[in-house]
Amino acid sequence: MITPINNGYFMKNDDLFLHINFYKDNIVRFTYSKTIDLRNSSYALIRSPVKIDSKHTNNTITTNSFKIKIHKKTLKVSICDKLGNIISSDKDIYTNQNKIIKSISWEKGFYGMGEKYGHINLKGTKTSNWNTDVLGKYGIHNSAIKEYHTSIPFYIGLDKDKCYGVYFDNTYKTFFDFGKNKEDELTFSAEGGDIDYYFIYDNNIQKVIEGYCFLTGTNTLPRKDFLGYHQSRYSYSNKDELMYVAKKMRKEKIPCDVLYLDIDYMKDYKVFTIDSEKFCEFRDMMISLKKMNYKLTVIIDPGIKVEENYHVYKQGKEQEFFIKDSLGEVYIGKVWGGDSVFPDFLRENVRKWWGELHKEFIDLGIEGIWNDMNEPADFSTKSKTIPIDTVHLDDKDDKKTHDEIHNIYGLLQSMATYEGIRNINPDKRSFILTRAAFAGSQRYSALWTGDNASTWENLQYSIPMYLNLGISGYSFIGSDVGGFLEDSNGELLTRWTQLGVFTPLFRNHSDKGTVNQEPWCFGEKYKNIIKKYIELRYKLVTYIYNLMKESSNTGKPVIRPLFYHYQNDENTYNINDQFLFGENILVCPVISPKTKKRMVYLPKGEWYCFWTKRKIKGKRYITVDTPLDIIPIYIKSGSIIPMNRVCQYIKKDYQILDIHFYLGTNNSYNLYLDDGLSFKYKKGIYSQIEFKIRQEKDRVIIKSKVLKNKYPIPKFNVHIHGLRNNKSSKFSLDKKEFSIILKTR
Ligand code: GLC
Repeated sequence: MITPINNGYFMKNDDLFLHINFYKDNIVRFTYSKTIDLRNSSYALIRSPVKIDSKHTNNTITTNSFKIKIHKKTLKVSICDKLGNIISSDKDIYTNQNKIIKSISWEKGFYGMGEKYGHINLKGTKTSNWNTDVLGKYGIHNSAIKEYHTSIPFYIGLDKDKCYGVYFDNTYKTFFDFGKNKEDELTFSAEGGDIDYYFIYDNNIQKVIEGYCFLTGTNTLPRKDFLGYHQSRYSYSNKDELMYVAKKMRKEKIPCDVLYLDIDYMKDYKVFTIDSEKFCEFRDMMISLKKMNYKLTVIIDPGIKVEENYHVYKQGKEQEFFIKDSLGEVYIGKVWGGDSVFPDFLRENVRKWWGELHKEFIDLGIEGIWNDMNEPADFSTKSKTIPIDTVHLDDKDDKKTHDEIHNIYGLLQSMATYEGIRNINPDKRSFILTRAAFAGSQRYSALWTGDNASTWENLQYSIPMYLNLGISGYSFIGSDVGGFLEDSNGELLTRWTQLGVFTPLFRNHSDKGTVNQEPWCFGEKYKNIIKKYIELRYKLVTYIYNLMKESSNTGKPVIRPLFYHYQNDENTYNINDQFLFGENILVCPVISPKTKKRMVYLPKGEWYCFWTKRKIKGKRYITVDTPLDIIPIYIKSGSIIPMNRVCQYIKKDYQILDIHFYLGTNNSYNLYLDDGLSFKYKKGIYSQIEFKIRQEKDRVIIKSKVLKNKYPIPKFNVHIHGLRNNKSSKFSLDKKEFSIILKTR
């Protein structure tokens, strides 16, 4: 019998309870448990159930979006669309193994699961989630490794006219089989907890991703300057090395905004300390960097060195803030500094303490915090993480073993860092970079994909990794450009930089003992091309900032698989080496050495080659030349793209903005402008300008209209592409609102 309860329904059989709760008309949660109580706290979720319009009979529930049938004896569920077509149905439920088997019927592809190495389409594969220090445990990234640094137990089933998403809200180690074991069966299970999952239904994949981000949150709006180029290395190990890079960038006129200090800036690898011998007069160094318009990001790992008089260790120990072993003693593992303890971020007072520890660094002018090794990595164990029977305490003083908390440890650290910095500096947006993450981490931090290697394979497979991360709600992402492990080389760095232009996090980083890979390291030929591409990134910063804003509003990914906009076109379902950067820019990176040509799939419509401005018909494969200085990029006809003038660092305001109109179809674009730094935009301090292209029989009308004017609006230069004979035209305008009429025949 289905019984209505608050915001949902309830059912039971002989040994099992099933709660059904609604979060939106098309989002429903199913929780199977052995007790009647419903678990209510989830670190991933930001929503609570709501009341929606629904009807029920003995074994069906109908909402405005779907119909749910539940088998009385087994509590197996089938979900149908409004017409009664089956969208998803359960084959078996094994609650003692926290396992559910669903039928695969119409799905042409499965996507999501965050940071995974391999092809974008997960159909026919299996994987598992357990945040892992991949280098420590396995070595170089490859497709045989299933568990990477992050866990996002969310997947999408896709076809032309159907789509759904499933978020398995379980923090234990989870397993997913997308038809590998049996072609027509999808299984997910967990090593603990309950079968507790959310089903998001919509025909359109875009809406399904929005639904997932509605549940787990969207990325915070980043600072605009952190969308510039980042230069890092393990390590710039003293002041002179760091200042050399800072000055060289400016001397070579290679734009750069953010520099990094890796673990060697600390005194004996003690977090929240600075080695004053290697970095004497740190404050003065900060002033010099600021004068040159750099932002400094420093690494802070969770492991705290055991040393009696070290303030962080002492404070944490006195207040019992560290994770304990199964016998109740503080657990001691090993990280960079040798014997180390780990903060128990599960508790709010521990997170608060951790957050407050950042004050001195923030006061020094440090603007970015890089949280690494937060799976957490532990060199002393075979598993390369802390033992699963170590003990956390939650805010109610209930004990939780590490197997339940492990996958959210990185999320909790990001939360602590984010909230701490927000309290210290309430008016400035922060930059936090994390390696380990869980569903919901996008609310706090950017993510990089850990210790890749300077190999063409690792470059190639970073693309499907970004695509599935995007589908899983993560937009502020990137990899170590040039590769971290092993020696990079000029060609690889050049191709990787070309790709990096189109990843929201654009950071070059490399390992100790490898050759240096700053842009100038492989000679003039490569340096010049790399510079040209970093400049292109700076031209695109307003476009990217607008994408990040859109993503923070709705969860729309910035890096999108082609099927995100062309769901009807099955050709797009298995494209691993191209992506859309926003709706309008199609990026086709070069992913192998000495490549003179590559094949490109252009979806339907017309596309402009970004370089030649020539128009090309879509819905076909083309072959294009790829000399070293060219990454094929296509702009969809009808696009309106803002471009900045190149400068050496990202400015708060630009005097002139170039707006490019690619004629072909009617379209509009809303440009968003704010200070790129504070939270004032939340109080309405921003501007919005609408640009429009209207095609008429023999003329085209181009217009702008100010929709909101609360932030200085620059002058616009208008560039129009696709006029008669493939010509482009340029107008310098002194007006915010304009209307241009051009004859097209
Ligand atoms: C880890 C990080 C890497 C960093 C190194 C030293 O391997 O993933 O980026 O440089 O630790 O801190």
